[in-house]
Amino acid sequence: MTATLATASYIGATILFILSLGGLSNPESSRRGNLYGMIGMTIAVLATVSGPHVTSAGYAWILGAMLIGGSIGLYASRVVKMTQMPELVALMHSLVGLAAMLVGFANYIDPAAATEFTGAAKSIHEMEIYIGILIGAVTFTGSIIAFGKLSGKIGGKTLLLPGRHWLNLAGLLVVIWFGREFLHAESIDAGMMPLVVMTVIALLFGIHMVMAIGGADMPVVISMLNSYSGWAAAATGFMLSNDLLIVVGALVGSRGAILSYIMCRAMNRHFISVIAGGFGSESGAPAAAGGVQPAGEVNPILAAETAELLREAKNVIIVPGYGMAVAQAQHTVYEITKVLREKGVNVRFGIHPVAGRMPGHMNVLLAEAKVPYDIVLEMDELNEDFPDTDVAMIIGANDIVNPAAQEDPSSPIAGMPVLEVWKAKTSIVMKRSMATGYAGVDNPLFYKENNRMLFGDAKKMLDEVLVALKA
Ligand code: TAP
Repeated sequence: MTATLATASYIGATILFILSLGGLSNPESSRRGNLYGMIGMTIAVLATVSGPHVTSAGYAWILGAMLIGGSIGLYASRVVKMTQMPELVALMHSLVGLAAMLVGFANYIDPAAATEFTGAAKSIHEMEIYIGILIGAVTFTGSIIAFGKLSGKIGGKTLLLPGRHWLNLAGLLVVIWFGREFLHAESIDAGMMPLVVMTVIALLFGIHMVMAIGGADMPVVISMLNSYSGWAAAATGFMLSNDLLIVVGALVGSRGAILSYIMCRAMNRHFISVIAGGFGSESGAPAAAGGVQPAGEVNPILAAETAELLREAKNVIIVPGYGMAVAQAQHTVYEITKVLREKGVNVRFGIHPVAGRMPGHMNVLLAEAKVPYDIVLEMDELNEDFPDTDVAMIIGANDIVNPAAQEDPSSPIAGMPVLEVWKAKTSIVMKRSMATGYAGVDNPLFYKENNRMLFGDAKKMLDEVLVALKA
């Protein structure tokens, strides 16, 4: 393929990636968005492999790598459960970071690159390498720790080293100092030492940054690492002089940054403190501690009684959470919705921006179960309607309906906007036990007088509710 054809293919792929992002912004067009992305990526890979930078000697290597990588990807996508998606995404972000690091080192020791760049161009190229490895290393270890936290392999508690902000600042100054040393190095051997020192500091910073973040703040971390992985890819693009990688990296980087901003707003956190890292733990208290412990009696309810309450209701709001995903109860939820709507009940869904374990988690599940989009509303769109709601049915959700966020300033989730389900005439919480949610905070909702607890696996309990409703 000639260079011109490769460039034309890159432009085509870029347009498809932009269309893909546009499509993914709405559940209705998301399938189309995915398709654009897949076609764009196929064009990008083909254009790169058959492009002017690849010699025929490299084909066997590329084909082998694609076979191994493709098989692992195919296997992972088939076996991964919907609830494990965030972990998988975090793991994939770590690979982008690792790739940026490896490309950086390979580029630096590449003898061809050493003769290709001279003067100012050489300095710019070395700066690209230094920054690329830096971003890649932070993304690599940060994403691995995020993977550990999300999969429960590492506890959700914050690790707060004494004087951690000073430690980070010192690390930054050392990185800048060694950056200068690196740029002034006379030979590859001399430049290797500052490069390795910076890499080690960046790897440690990635660990430190995510370890200092409390469980409740993990949603922001995911989108932030998504953004970092984009910038790591863009840096790789600069190192390899690959325009498509620069554009796509910038797209992912800015998209992740915008998503981080939206997540921050949803969780009432400050964007700047997120970017600086170590946020959400200023109180110094681990997420599980702190806050007033709620106490009192809970009122259990049976599935048949739940069905009775739903049948008599005029307005019902269903609030799905992580437990619905675990139980895979979305299809039964849809069946119940259908029966109730046929009986003239106004059923709507209230989606919290961080419900579940990844952005849009609940929307994906409800779309999969064919719940109509027009009755799936964002938290802000229906939070004021709870006082006029007969039944608020909470399915495997906990933190996102915790009144302590509003009522208890010492709670680790204080200030986070929540769905005000307790304002409904009756709220019914469906979960297996009195266990806490992801943030590890007790929930005073369970003890409210107008709240009922339907204990059991969400799928099993909803099946019983459906049978009782149809009876
Ligand atoms: P959680 O607060 O984690 O609560 C989920 C509840 O579901 C648990 O209390 C659990 O109680 C229940 N549950 C689990 N399995 C169940 C099953 N099979 N049947 C019935 N119930 C089941 O979830 P949420 O309300 O959706 O809030 C999300 C939380 O995750 C927030 O703290 C958020 O910050 C965090 N988070 C979100 C994201 C994103 S991007 N959305 C990413 C990382 C973390 P039992 O054990 O008693 O059943």
